[in-house]
Amino acid sequence: MKKIYFLLFHLIIISCENMVKKNKIMPLVTIEKKDFGKTKDGVNTNQFILKNKSGMEISVINYGGIITSWKAKDRKGNYKDIVLGFNNLSQYEAGSPYFGAIIGRYGNRISKGKFALNGENYTLAVNNGENHLHGGLKGFDKVVWDTKEVVNDSTASLVLSYVSKDMEEGYPGNLEVQVIYTLNNNDELSVKYEAISDKKTIINLTQHSYFNLSADFNKNILDHEILINADSFLPVDSTLIPTGEIRNVRETPFDFRKPKKVDEEINAINKQLEFGIGYDHCWVLNNQDKGLRFVASAYESGTGRLLEIFSDQPGIQFYSGNFLDGTLKSKIGGNYDFRSGFCLETQHYPNSPNEKDFPSVTLNAGKKYVSETIFKFSSK
Ligand code: BGC
Repeated sequence: MKKIYFLLFHLIIISCENMVKKNKIMPLVTIEKKDFGKTKDGVNTNQFILKNKSGMEISVINYGGIITSWKAKDRKGNYKDIVLGFNNLSQYEAGSPYFGAIIGRYGNRISKGKFALNGENYTLAVNNGENHLHGGLKGFDKVVWDTKEVVNDSTASLVLSYVSKDMEEGYPGNLEVQVIYTLNNNDELSVKYEAISDKKTIINLTQHSYFNLSADFNKNILDHEILINADSFLPVDSTLIPTGEIRNVRETPFDFRKPKKVDEEINAINKQLEFGIGYDHCWVLNNQDKGLRFVASAYESGTGRLLEIFSDQPGIQFYSGNFLDGTLKSKIGGNYDFRSGFCLETQHYPNSPNEKDFPSVTLNAGKKYVSETIFKFSSK
């Protein structure tokens, strides 16, 4: 009898040890690293595939910190790619409308590329009509980032780092930037941004994924139901620079306080929709003093995919893919047509450096910039 107890005791110990070992050897969220080819300047790049236990798979390359593919589940449990992008590096380098990229140093537009700080005038590249857009000619979407992988029992993170030199693209200060992508087992991707500068500067970082929750890039996104937790938005001029007015969304096509299909009012006769060729505006999010909170969602009823976005940022740019014109080749064959993807970019307001009443985008020397946005997927 004693022998049997002894044996049983040992069996339990061994199986417990095996369970622990198994967890150590096989964490529940993993990162696989692959080669992604050389840039045209001969720099090696890598692709990192973050995978969780339920089946979400996110591919990130260290060129631009670009999310090249993101598999999310539909209501039947099928994981499919729901972001626009390309299959190889040369296509990204040849010209991408910021598909899936990290945007910096300044997300969205700065009027005529000019701003002043500490009484000093700065001039940035004018790369969008008469304005500066998304960090300039070689913004954070076009640089190769250093990487570090951090895997824990329940999350996997890809840490991207980049040092932007003083006056790079015209912005003052040596800026050390980190962007941390963390995937967990609840189909949530957290994007954390951190930065520190040795001189007073401006900063506004964001993530520029184009979503199409149907996973069929040959379809447009007009049937997606969008919700934006914002009572007001920023009207723009014909060059898409905010006029400075903060306008209530009530009784306008910009009211997304309840889920509304994109096409419900996108063709309404409205000067703002005319300027944007659809939606291409920044919404003034509610509860700005609450830190990380729910800000927006998108739902596609055909597949049941739901994307919910949480952020600590004051604004969100909802862009309905109006400049996609069928000239870029899609990952799945075919081309990216008009409105085949939409962006929800959490950020500070466009042109803030020139609008004293907008929340400040100034980063003082030695002070840490921190921000977080979470993209949570589910289906219903
Ligand atoms: C802007 C659009 C722009 C797009 C791609 C968005 O963030 O709001 O106007 O066309 O990025 O460049």
